[in-house]
Amino acid sequence: MFDLQSARIGIIGLGYVGLPLAAEFGKKYPTYGFDINARRISELREGHDYTLELDRAELSAARQLHFTGNIEALSECNVYIVTVPTPVDRGNRPDLGPLQAASHSVGRVLCAGDVVIYESTVYPGATEEICVPILESTSGLRFNDGFFVGYSPERVNPGDKEHRIPNTLKVTSGSTPEAARHIDALYRQIVTAGTHPVSSLRVAEAAKVIENTQRDVNIALVNELAMLFHRLGIDTLEVLQAAGTKWNFLPFRPGLVGGHCIGVDPYYLTHKAQEIGYHPDMILAGRRINDNMGAHIAERTLKLMTQRRIHVVGSRVLVLGLAFKENCPDLRNTRVVDVIREFTAYHANVDVYDPWVESAHAEEEYGIRLIDTLETGTYDAIILAVGHRQFRELGSNGIRALGKPECVLFDVKSLLPADAVDGRL
Ligand SMILES: NC(=O)c1ccc[n+]([C@@H]2O[C@H](COP(=O)([O-])OP(=O)(O)OC[C@H]3O[C@@H](n4cnc5c(N)ncnc54)[C@H](O)[C@@H]3O)[C@@H](O)[C@H]2O)c1
Repeated sequence: MFDLQSARIGIIGLGYVGLPLAAEFGKKYPTYGFDINARRISELREGHDYTLELDRAELSAARQLHFTGNIEALSECNVYIVTVPTPVDRGNRPDLGPLQAASHSVGRVLCAGDVVIYESTVYPGATEEICVPILESTSGLRFNDGFFVGYSPERVNPGDKEHRIPNTLKVTSGSTPEAARHIDALYRQIVTAGTHPVSSLRVAEAAKVIENTQRDVNIALVNELAMLFHRLGIDTLEVLQAAGTKWNFLPFRPGLVGGHCIGVDPYYLTHKAQEIGYHPDMILAGRRINDNMGAHIAERTLKLMTQRRIHVVGSRVLVLGLAFKENCPDLRNTRVVDVIREFTAYHANVDVYDPWVESAHAEEEYGIRLIDTLETGTYDAIILAVGHRQFRELGSNGIRALGKPECVLFDVKSLLPADAVDGRL
């Protein structure tokens, strides 16, 4: 097995997780970043990271990092780290296709004594049940004899410049005690906040998937409270702020739950639960509530429009923000599209504006062409969907100015003062 002096790292998948990880390792070890997206490789070679996680200076600080679209270039590596996407399909079932494809690629270059570490979020057991057999059959090596495996979940948060790899404690695990020790020691070279070794891959997999499941269920509770308080005529934020003065009240806020993590990972866990005959009531209830928030936001805005005698068919609606969260260009699984779809179903004309997102990207992913300038006095309804700092800077007067005099302003994120908007969650 590799020792710390001779580690040569191959990273498979250079997205939000893989690139920052490759850059950290690339400061200390020969590191090869591999991705099947040729455009991504050529952009990275030119020092451009479209995810905006790393700037040019941060990329060039990783002096030993090389980018490649050819898996054979990783054949000299002795540690492989897989960071490919783990999405769900249209029926919310785990789509393990990228993970299986990446395992095939690694299997082709795997040599005796090598270690393969998975960081992609999965359900407990997936690494050993799905990935290991592919590594064995493609490489011809035997698990825990010819090669070893680890699982170390990633905790990065897109757009978050505070919680980075070095200062975020990392859970590690390995398929044998010796592999676990080597893997833990390797991560401690780049994670100054330290590591938390656990006894098995399944514990590490489970720990990751419940981090996001816990958030999802908590947000679902607050979303349910928001719907209830609306019916009771009470402002949700004011209630949450009041309850939040107690030391142990958790500061969750209502909203759309998108992204490829919180809205997706619980489905990995519920899939595994159902596979073994356990029906996870609470997790699925949370998912159902959160997945319906887009329709709820549209319905409340439509009601306000109708109360003002605004004819919805043919109306002009502006949606501010498409990214799944504030101050980043990440469009994956954004639930803002649910709001847009509802309005479109009522034959309203919807304009979408997002200063963080490239229009080509929005069109490719969702068939949505973004507008690039904002016109004043134009809209019948405005949905402030994402809390980008540009919208905060625009303020309620700036945003109201985009609407006609009777325009309905709905503030999903409670970004503006309550008395400056017509509705909020
Ligand atoms: N982004 C986050 O905040 C975050 C946090 C923790 C965990 N995760 C998990 O980490 C994993 C990766 O997420 P991400 O956000 O980096 O995804 P991403 O979509 O940003 O990037 C994935 C990259 O992998 C590449 N890829 C896909 N299939 C490949 C293959 N077969 N071989 C090589 N490259 C391939 C894609 O081209 C893409 O560049 C997921 O399982 C995710 O749930 C993400």
